[in-house]
Amino acid sequence: MSKRTAAVGSRCLPVKKDQNFAYNIYLEDSFGQLPERIKELEPENRKICIVTDSNVELLYAKEVQGLLAPCCREISIFVIQAGEEHKNLNEIQKLYEHLILQKLDRQDLLIALGGGVIGDMTGFAAATFLRGIRFVQIPTTLLSQVDSSIGGKTGVDFDNYKNMVGAFHQPSLVYMNINALMTLSEEQFACGMGEILKHGLIRDSSYYEWVIDHMSEIQDREIDTLFRMVEGSCKIKRQVVENDPTEKGERALLNFGHTIGHAIEKMKNFELLHGQCVALGTVAAAYISWKRGNLAEEEFYEIRDMNVGFDLPISFDSLRSEDIVEATKHDKKMESGKIKFVLLKGIGKAYVDTTVTEEEMLAAVNAMNADLWS
Ligand code: GLY
Repeated sequence: MSKRTAAVGSRCLPVKKDQNFAYNIYLEDSFGQLPERIKELEPENRKICIVTDSNVELLYAKEVQGLLAPCCREISIFVIQAGEEHKNLNEIQKLYEHLILQKLDRQDLLIALGGGVIGDMTGFAAATFLRGIRFVQIPTTLLSQVDSSIGGKTGVDFDNYKNMVGAFHQPSLVYMNINALMTLSEEQFACGMGEILKHGLIRDSSYYEWVIDHMSEIQDREIDTLFRMVEGSCKIKRQVVENDPTEKGERALLNFGHTIGHAIEKMKNFELLHGQCVALGTVAAAYISWKRGNLAEEEFYEIRDMNVGFDLPISFDSLRSEDIVEATKHDKKMESGKIKFVLLKGIGKAYVDTTVTEEEMLAAVNAMNADLWS
């Protein structure tokens, strides 16, 4: 894999809703600009707590702490064990205890340094500690850069129900070091690609085609291509959350692939990564869209095969299709007992449909169930 690390310059994508929130998303090629960027939050007399996980701690925590220490009054690091199984209220309680011991007040700042789990947990602690303090997202995975760090969804899992407890709380700043993507495993990188393909599929067919056309540069992690790809995806995500910050309408389209994806994730007991499950859910949703006549057969197969091209799964095993369909009934995106399923009317055009039947879901899930193939 050729991983060029040439300077790519900085980009700033301002996110603006109204007086309720406005913040900047910075794309950089190192953590070096962080002291300059964070100045806009006036941290000089403030305490900062960096929240990270046990993997990211070893890679970046000291560097980020060293860069930010001269910008603030006091800085501490709080480490959560890496892994979705730690995304729960027990860990949040330990974080509250740390913040109380460090005497953080309402003007102080949390920093989420890591992937989506850390971003969601830190955001949730920031939303609730002292009834709400500011926080900064420094996403280090592809998935968190293009999705979870933007838009203020925060929360934890509860009793195996994903993101069941949470709050909308917008970050005060998002800072991405695109070179952090070079240290991701192939699997983690692929999970981010699932979200990127999703953004194109629901909103922007030319971006989708661009991603497909640049598959080899993306897989080689060429920095300029990654920069353009992350920027393109962040622009789509930004536009959706500006229009609909609390998911009253359009934001639900971002849940494309999530109804069946979350069900598989739950049934697999979180053995598969979130991005892998959403990728499977995407194939299922595209299948239903095809069977309803919204997509041509070749469009469905292209969507499915892009998963293969970007190292994402198109099948699962060791699960009963019926159990997956049953698990969709516990999706938190239900409204008045109806599943809000996101389908495609074409590439780049998604809509919410509440009429998808169990039979349609079962057919889509059966088509991916490798146990039925022999
Ligand atoms: N990840 C979906 C959303 O932010 O709404």
